[in-house]
Amino acid sequence: MFVSQASPTMSRSLRIAPSILSADFARLGEEVRAIEAAGADLVHFDVMDNHYVPNLTIGPLVCEAIRPHVTIPIDVHLMVEPVDALIPLFAKAGANIITFHPEASRHVDRTLSLIREHGCKAGLVLNPATSVDWLDHVMDKLDIVLLMSVNPGFGGQKFIPATLGKLRLVRQRIEAHKARGGQPIWLEVDGGVKTDNIADIVKAGADTCVAGSAVFGAPDADGGYHGIMRELRSQADAH
Ligand code: DX5
Ligand code: ZN
Repeated sequence: MFVSQASPTMSRSLRIAPSILSADFARLGEEVRAIEAAGADLVHFDVMDNHYVPNLTIGPLVCEAIRPHVTIPIDVHLMVEPVDALIPLFAKAGANIITFHPEASRHVDRTLSLIREHGCKAGLVLNPATSVDWLDHVMDKLDIVLLMSVNPGFGGQKFIPATLGKLRLVRQRIEAHKARGGQPIWLEVDGGVKTDNIADIVKAGADTCVAGSAVFGAPDADGGYHGIMRELRSQADAH
């Protein structure tokens, strides 16, 4: 079910993960089918609890409802505190990837293991001001690092440029880990990804890009979802 591992220097294998936060929730099944048809690699699924972040979105019931509509993996981004109780529920609802914010879990290592024990890929999410040192002692248990390039809670925010330096730093750590015989780890970026910055983001080391408002806000006149997916990939190739 997983797509092949992308090399940081090969943007043609860049994974694009449209965030359904910006989709039309009244037509969610149709929306996820449309993004898969347009070439999306993952469905990015933003879970907010009005506690860890000041917004409230969707949970396992909605994940279960969209699961039959797509074959691509569902990438669940948990912006919730506490984390652990939701993991079995999302695994049962058809999630393939589960990421969480380390400061929202009392026992980060345990939460990562719990995700993997439930058959999902596991990842940590770092906010713009969260230190990359959170990764230090859990590299062996990571399938993904998700770097926030906005403060979590809302779609449609502006990309924070300091993320580019952080991306380069995390890319170095991932490559060093691989050189020591470690497993591959995806490097995903989330927030404010657009056609005019995706080249810089890929150049700095991302292999997976979330795009919410860019994809779901794409005008029909410019080719709709097919048009924007094509444009994001072609701009990424320009790096
Ligand atoms: C923000 C979410 C993002 C967001 C991305 O907390 O995690 O996934 O929906 O949306 P855009 O691409 O519009 O910034
Ligand atoms: Zn997200």
